[in-house]
Amino acid sequence: MTQKREYTGDYPDKTLYIPGPTEVREDVIEAMSQPMFGHRMDRMTDLYTTIVEDTKEFLDTDNEVIVLTGSGTEFMDSSILNLVDDNVLCTTCGSFSERQANVAERLGKNVDRVEYEWGKAVKPDDVRTALEERNRDYDVVTCVMNESSTGVRNPVEEIGDVVAEYPNTYFVVDAVSALGGDYVDIDAHGIDVIFTSIQKAFAMPPGLAVCVVSDEAYERERQKESASWYGGFQRTLDYYDRKGQTHSTPAIPIMLAYREQMKHMLEESHETRDRRHREMAEYTREWAREHFDVFPETGYESQTVSCIENTRGIDVAETIDAVSEEYDFVFSNGYGSVLGEETFRIGHMGEHDRDSIEALTDAIEDVAGL
Ligand SMILES: Cc1ncc(COP(=O)(O)O)c(C=O)c1O
Repeated sequence: MTQKREYTGDYPDKTLYIPGPTEVREDVIEAMSQPMFGHRMDRMTDLYTTIVEDTKEFLDTDNEVIVLTGSGTEFMDSSILNLVDDNVLCTTCGSFSERQANVAERLGKNVDRVEYEWGKAVKPDDVRTALEERNRDYDVVTCVMNESSTGVRNPVEEIGDVVAEYPNTYFVVDAVSALGGDYVDIDAHGIDVIFTSIQKAFAMPPGLAVCVVSDEAYERERQKESASWYGGFQRTLDYYDRKGQTHSTPAIPIMLAYREQMKHMLEESHETRDRRHREMAEYTREWAREHFDVFPETGYESQTVSCIENTRGIDVAETIDAVSEEYDFVFSNGYGSVLGEETFRIGHMGEHDRDSIEALTDAIEDVAGL
């Protein structure tokens, strides 16, 4: 039984290098401290329409954007409820892509998997073979863009091109931990639904999820007899169309933070942000290869989360604790019981740059005696 552990309010500030939440700018934090206003006031329409339209501009998409209170996992549920009658093909290569398959099973759908060993990436040809040979009409194919548990970046663009050859099959991409730090041309690759949580590469406080929905996916939901209420594409987008607001009370302070951070993101531009993340990823991989090894399959390494193979057998938990104690930097162990000590993960996303990542790797070198 979980016991209460009193929150004391007395905790040292730590710099976050975990795969989310990540560092949030001071002015973005401050933007949340404003007197409350009502979610049906004109001010809310100004705020919500601004963040939605700015997000479309940032992501360079003509598809519709939903910003919903909750975390990205909400759209794992609602994408399935909104688009799938019977069959879904889930590509799995780690914990989060498996979660998506489990969600679909729990919602009572027939789930077929294209499965990969953890660390390997999903291959477009395997998806094509599954679509051609399994003799099932799939309503949806799911894929995770950035498998945060293994540091794999899946080729969602090429997989989207394959799924686009099947007009009655919709492509759903979990881009939590990627979107905002790894450029993807959503409209060019038949991506019907792509969602993220804002506490990752958007570098905002947690509490909102963003979902980009194609017209085809919206229409598909309209033909269905049942769909998600809270995360229904039709309900959320129609409400936006009519009122420029959300269908239920949103996390207003976090939307204020979103507004502030999106200004920074637009100012930097998606392309520059993408380049900065690529530089951080390249630096981290180079460092990892010098001292350890890189866990994911070569050529499919993530641009936002590096999963590093602990080839030296350092005590990962102890190193994390010591780096946190001595430097106030926090990075992550490997995911779950299998990868816990065999790997460790560095989140290089959001507001970090090459220098701040180097400060972490210097700290790890110091503590681990590398
Ligand atoms: C790839 C991926 N998908 C889904 C999630 C779940 O996100 P959230 O906890 O914000 O719902 C995470 C969280 O780390 C993730 O990395």
